[in-house]
Amino acid sequence: MKSILENRPVLAKQVADVAEVAGYLWQKGWAERNGGNITINITDVIDDEIRNMKAISDRVEIGSCLPHLKGCYFFCKGTNKRMRDLARWPMENGSVIRICDDCSSYEIIADKPVAPTSELASHLSMHNYLIGSGSNYKAAVHTHPIDLVAMTHNPAFLKKDVLTKLLWSMIPETRAFCPKGLGIIPYALPSSFELANATVKELADYDVVMWEKHGVCSVGENVMEAFDMVDTLSKSAQIYLTAKSMGFEPEGMSDKLMEELKVAFNLPK
Ligand code: 13P
Ligand code: ZN
Repeated sequence: MKSILENRPVLAKQVADVAEVAGYLWQKGWAERNGGNITINITDVIDDEIRNMKAISDRVEIGSCLPHLKGCYFFCKGTNKRMRDLARWPMENGSVIRICDDCSSYEIIADKPVAPTSELASHLSMHNYLIGSGSNYKAAVHTHPIDLVAMTHNPAFLKKDVLTKLLWSMIPETRAFCPKGLGIIPYALPSSFELANATVKELADYDVVMWEKHGVCSVGENVMEAFDMVDTLSKSAQIYLTAKSMGFEPEGMSDKLMEELKVAFNLPK
């Protein structure tokens, strides 16, 4: 059977980018077993032939009505699939889904009936929010970065914007390239709507949010941008941990220096 990617170079490139990022997540040590998930909104690159493709699965209830997703298409990592396998064989470890007209169910259309990630509630809720708010963001990445997750085991870091300020102050790049900082979401059961709803609320203020004692969720124009913000935050966490392991508290850039960056780079916060 031919792949949906055949003779569709734009779609194939987007899936190849997901595969590339999946490889980075594995190499970083952030993707134990099936840890983490990626979804991208591919509705823009869907043609009539795809629109007419028959479902290869039953309809599955999402568990919530997401009005902005009517007729949208997503490429999703499969549940229980490994990032390191997604990197090499994206269409065997992920699938394309179509949101049905009721906005509360989906069906798989290609290439294989690979059931999408168990965090679909959060991913689709995020995409629904992004479309509804007029954003051009198309990608959502959830991953388990060791350093950032470790920091959430310290209650002092969970207060609003404490981690944001600490991580920003470690290196100018983080202030510049993750300009909204890191939102914090108190622990909630993985895959739950409680987690999905809390995530969406934080997206009004942040592009990257931390699921306490679990992992991060990042949204961006494309999968590379979403990955880069997590990578930058993790770099800051590494600098902090390295200084601590050398036996001193890192000084951090002063408020004055960070304000200077905000003005120089015309940053939103
Ligand atoms: P999935 O394998 O269902 O994508 O779950 C991985 C994960 O990280 C859950 O939070
Ligand atoms: Zn997870």
